[in-house]
Amino acid sequence: MSNPFENYTELHDFAASQPELFWGDVAKTLHWSKQWDHVLSEDGGPIARWFVGGELNACYNCVDRHVEDGFGDQIALYFESPVTQTERTLTYSQLQDQTSKLGGAMQKHGVSKGDRVLIYMPNSPEAVVAMLACARIGAVHSVVFGGFAAKELATRIDDATPSLVLAASCGIEGSKILPYQPILDEAFAIADHKMARTIYWQRSQCEAQLGPQALDWETELAQAPSAACQPVAATDPLYILYTSGTTGQPKGIVRDTGGYLTALAWTMENIYRCPPGETYWAASDVGWVVGHSYIVYGPLLNRNATVVFEGKPVGTPDAGIFWQLIAKHRVRSFFTAPTAIRAIKQVDPHGELALHHDLSALQAIYLAGERTDPSTLTWIGDLLGKPVVDHWWQTETGWAICANPMGVEQLPIKAGSTSLAMPGWQIHCLDEDGLPVPAGDNGAIVAKLPLPPGAAPTLWNASDRYKTAYLDRYPGYYLSGDAGYIDEDGFVFVMTRTDDVINVAGHRLSSSAIEEILAANPAVAECAVVGINDDLKGSVPASFVVVKAGIDPNTPSLSDQLIGEVRTAIGPVAAFKIVHIVTKLPKTRSGKILRRNIRQIADGETPKIPATIEDLSVLDEYFALFNHREAQP
Ligand code: COA
Ligand code: AMP
Repeated sequence: MSNPFENYTELHDFAASQPELFWGDVAKTLHWSKQWDHVLSEDGGPIARWFVGGELNACYNCVDRHVEDGFGDQIALYFESPVTQTERTLTYSQLQDQTSKLGGAMQKHGVSKGDRVLIYMPNSPEAVVAMLACARIGAVHSVVFGGFAAKELATRIDDATPSLVLAASCGIEGSKILPYQPILDEAFAIADHKMARTIYWQRSQCEAQLGPQALDWETELAQAPSAACQPVAATDPLYILYTSGTTGQPKGIVRDTGGYLTALAWTMENIYRCPPGETYWAASDVGWVVGHSYIVYGPLLNRNATVVFEGKPVGTPDAGIFWQLIAKHRVRSFFTAPTAIRAIKQVDPHGELALHHDLSALQAIYLAGERTDPSTLTWIGDLLGKPVVDHWWQTETGWAICANPMGVEQLPIKAGSTSLAMPGWQIHCLDEDGLPVPAGDNGAIVAKLPLPPGAAPTLWNASDRYKTAYLDRYPGYYLSGDAGYIDEDGFVFVMTRTDDVINVAGHRLSSSAIEEILAANPAVAECAVVGINDDLKGSVPASFVVVKAGIDPNTPSLSDQLIGEVRTAIGPVAAFKIVHIVTKLPKTRSGKILRRNIRQIADGETPKIPATIEDLSVLDEYFALFNHREAQP
């Protein structure tokens, strides 16, 4: 929807003072089978609910209504897979046909409204069809990123208790072919929850073995009746997306249907300035929130063509692949993670691979998933000569909390900042006692309740955990888990996590989950895992392990064994490669491990050591390990 406001301030003030009017107007741009009774309801739960009483269907809004409006022949999706050397397109009519057939196949196998369906697929048109087909029949999808191992999959299966799995026969990572069936079979064996069937999209690189419980995608679609779009309540979940929290048990972020689609509809033109009919590309993965919001739902809702890319920004075929595809599809808005830009910069430091491509359609580049360091922001901005928008968001929020609203007003670009709070978000920085910190001072970044539409209203099967994780610390506010500062102009600088979450190449990992695996090794007495700086990935997990008495700390294979165990349990996505065997962990007198100090020493910073440290001399080993000067408490 286009913007009726003169500038950012007018927009933000209006949304804050008249939220029902503001979001109600946005929601009118969607198709509703039943009008809502209330735009915003704050009754009956800790979190506001949006569009209560309303009914709609996400697939209808993303696909069918565009076909009915005469855009059936428009390209909905460009698939670019340099790793398989294939490219394909799907029009909106083809997307409608495939989603209705897959929806029909799922219904034939007993999937109905509200049932969960697990999706384990790489970036592909089939993954998009799978998600939309679930939405079409009112089923709740839960996409699991391909880089997670069987145990992580099993945890998600037991939590979401899906009725069916939609899977690819394999994923492809560079030159590696990764068969998915053995991972799924192992997960099914570990999980307590048992499912009847998996439908496999067969890829020629490695096919799944079919049988009564492993069905063929093509055959299922060919035999399926068409499924109609099934209206669901605006407050019904569209999907569950698991993300790492501070414990080994991932959090099932629940996304409601009506509020989410409304928020995304607003963003497409007001943040991303991408009118219907134009091409939008989020170079992320459907397994992450960015993929859900901006490979699938946002662009399709707005009748854009979305680019689905299977590959990496480097080595597939070269570090110019982003620029090549932006030129080829005349991409107007491009979204990726800073780590991808750093990867390109390492290989092509002078940006020579960008120079001979026609990037004239590109209006701006959008970065999120981790902090954009000022040098990366400047490098890419100078290279392309286009605005670079660093915007901040989380799996929990579903869309940007802070951004530069390019379709409303281009704000000044301040390197290191995520710009200003988007409509509906009231952002504050608080100290330990819950008092606002002065401009420029560090604090916990919080959002005043009620949260705008799109933000997760709860966690699947864990509403109490939602309260304790996000709402209890500062009553009346949502605790983001991020710390940073707000400058005198209101620009928000997100600097670090305040919890044990590590952000690796824009992917969120739980340090506790890695610690649990290390601690289970019989040689390990205790351990600590912290995120340390990495030039490419932003941060990577590093572990500090104390072995049990009687175990030789120099046992040669121990580190490899521990690395292998983490890879097997969590998956390659953990990017876990650093093990330091130490004699002791630094602790406070009450036994709290001083992870922050370890991290500071590893990053070459001056550690702020608490006076409550149990034994200062323990740190000498860490200073020596990282060749760092000593510090005093
Ligand atoms: N399935 C299976 N394995 C996967 C996988 C998937 N979908 N995605 C990643 N992996 C594996 C990789 O092959 C790698 O394995 P390895 O240890 O055997 O080499 C490991 O997980 C780590 O992957 P990654 O962190 O992606 O590192 P990389 O060195 O392969 O690539 C970048 C680095 C920067 C090129 C890559 O992370 C990238 O393109 N990032 C884009 C950021 C992004 O999509 N962010 C999402 C939020 S916007
Ligand atoms: P995820 O839920 O995986 O998208 O990760 C969300 C987390 O990534 C946030 O809580 C931040 O810690 C970090 N993050 C995302 N975007 C930014 C950004 N633009 N700047 C700084 N940190 C970010």
